Amino acid sequence: MRVLGIETSCDETAVAIVEAPAGGDPMGRILANVVYSQLVEHRRFGGVVPEIAARAHLEHLDGLVGQALAEAGLGLGDLDAIAATGGPGLIGGVLVGVMTAKALAFAHDKPFLAINHLEGHALTVRLTEDVAFPYLLLLVSGGHCQLLTVQGPGDFTRLGTTIDDAVGECFDKTAKLLGLGFPGGPAVEAAALGGDPQRFALPRPMWRKPGCDFSFSGLKTAVRQTVEKMDRGDSRAVADLCASFQRTVGDVLADRCANALAVAPLPTLVVAGGVAANVYLRGRLEALAASHGARLVAPPVRLCTDNGAMIAWAGLERLRLGLVDGLDFRPRPRWPLDPALDPAAVNRV
Ligand code: KG4
Ligand code: ZN
Repeated sequence: MRVLGIETSCDETAVAIVEAPAGGDPMGRILANVVYSQLVEHRRFGGVVPEIAARAHLEHLDGLVGQALAEAGLGLGDLDAIAATGGPGLIGGVLVGVMTAKALAFAHDKPFLAINHLEGHALTVRLTEDVAFPYLLLLVSGGHCQLLTVQGPGDFTRLGTTIDDAVGECFDKTAKLLGLGFPGGPAVEAAALGGDPQRFALPRPMWRKPGCDFSFSGLKTAVRQTVEKMDRGDSRAVADLCASFQRTVGDVLADRCANALAVAPLPTLVVAGGVAANVYLRGRLEALAASHGARLVAPPVRLCTDNGAMIAWAGLERLRLGLVDGLDFRPRPRWPLDPALDPAAVNRV
């Protein structure tokens, strides 16, 4: 089975083609994975501008589809389905991806699959690793911070979520305050190397509280107040603050995951989403999982941030189960993963 996946929900225009047997071997192979990062378009605004993103997707998507097919040495007729992110995300971009996928599917008489972007992150680990359902998932990205159990495609139970900001947003804000650039996660991680993680005592919202919810706004405020009192030109202080910030985030994530493993004692903890690219945080979660007799599994770093392979793969998993979508699918700016929390989830699995 071969599926082409399109991702356009934020600032990466991405297309990939993945392949896997229809049954049997659970893992897949990436035949092509191309991405146009709109970083330069958005950098001078210090964040993603939705209208600019939508226009850039429109401009680059067709070329990237051609490039992915050429890289895989395939024609559209060799594919079994076309998948695209159907939400949640910036709606202008999602529309571009969905309309392109529908047109390709219609013109070549292939099934169309509308993929929840979060499901893409949630299932990516199964593309590269032999991970069986169910597993516990920590989904940490620029817009989301959630703990869920994953029973299968479309079958998620949310244990907790952030009551205010997402953790990736907190990384981005910290980088912006320190003048480290955008996106903030990789910049903070690089600046933290060699920094003293004990120098700044920052608040750990929700730490040691019951449940699996998160909160990051208090931490964001504390970072701002600390930056206001220090010299941003002092590279030692910047490194120490980044390291202290990262340790604090690690403390909070580990504490929340410990509670989740207590209520859902599954053998595998998966971390996914852009923030899962952070090597320090992966280490913290690995230690936490081990202390609960579980193992941590994460996608390769390059598949943590937004990409087309995650959408193609989620599409392939759905196609295996016959879960295709109609061409009347309407892109969704909001789309919770847990069907119990989704008012529109009547007909979907
Ligand atoms: O999953 P993603 O690419 O897009 C969303 O769906 O949001 O995640 C992007 C987020 C950004 O906030 C970015 O700063 C963060 O992931 N991120 C990181 C790292 N790489 C990306 N955060 C911490 N450490 C990193 N190495
Ligand atoms: Zn994402």
